[in-house]
Amino acid sequence: MFVFSPDIILEREEFQLLRDFIYQHCGLHFADESKYLLEKRLNKRLSELHLSCFREYYYQLRYGQNRDQELAAAIDLLTTNETYFFREDFQLQTFTNEVIPELVKTKLMRRERSIRIWSAGCSSGEEPYTLAMLLLENPLLQGWSIEIIGTDISQRVLKTAREGLYGQNSFRATDENILKRFFTPVGQKWQIDSRVKDLVSISHLNFFDNHRVALLGMMDVVFCRNVIIYFDLDAKKRAISILHNRLRPGGYLLLGHSESLMNVSSDFCLRHFTNDMLYQRPDSAKNAERGS
Ligand SMILES: C[S@@+](CC[C@H](N)C(=O)[O-])C[C@H]1O[C@@H](n2cnc3c(N)ncnc32)[C@H](O)[C@@H]1O
Repeated sequence: MFVFSPDIILEREEFQLLRDFIYQHCGLHFADESKYLLEKRLNKRLSELHLSCFREYYYQLRYGQNRDQELAAAIDLLTTNETYFFREDFQLQTFTNEVIPELVKTKLMRRERSIRIWSAGCSSGEEPYTLAMLLLENPLLQGWSIEIIGTDISQRVLKTAREGLYGQNSFRATDENILKRFFTPVGQKWQIDSRVKDLVSISHLNFFDNHRVALLGMMDVVFCRNVIIYFDLDAKKRAISILHNRLRPGGYLLLGHSESLMNVSSDFCLRHFTNDMLYQRPDSAKNAERGS
């Protein structure tokens, strides 16, 4: 069995300083049992910087001349960025077959023909590009303005998202036809088509940064899948309230299949669809219409 033995030991007091700092910055929570994870993931960085202990690293992160860059490097090492195209297929089917038609109907009644979707915590881009592929050829949306915004806190994964060049691992749930229609082979990898790329803008964003999040404007749908799973309850509550503020009344919040808002927020209603349940921001105007 492989046992990790670090070159530089993370002392308990250093662990508390570092984990509280990271938590305040981006909500990532390292419980006492995951001390070894922080120790393991940051060890290489300490060696690269020729530091002999974690306390020195903590001071660099907080007060060093290059603290912003160093914090970005630490975040790149500490985030879990696992993702792939067409993840959670049944949920995407609900989105395409039930949510989009409903949204189109509501929008047309208001004489609007635009749709805005936020993929919050988009990692290397597979999620927002999947949404773009699903919407691109949807006959209901022909002639509509479609905007998909993918954001993530890790600069490393955003580089891949901007390049749009993907290896085999990203295609574990992708149909062969989709691959042929929307990608071009480049060596061992696949380049995403510019028709898809043009619908998506990729930006660096920590979604606990209230001020910058507000600049995104209002969304019709927010995908935040497999992100809050790494937060503790308090950070989950803060994150969900931030996402709630970005959603138009009646807008949808799509979480990962193992995530729920139970004990986290009562600001959403749970909508039952044919094969899935999704969260929706209540629309008081629409409810009043129905009641009258
Ligand atoms: C496991 S990936 C999920 C990717 C995609 N949503 C999916 O379900 O396939 C989680 C992503 O959330 C990002 N993340 C974590 N904390 C964040 C924060 N405070 N602000 C923005 N992104 C964050 C991580 O960098 C990581 O890329």
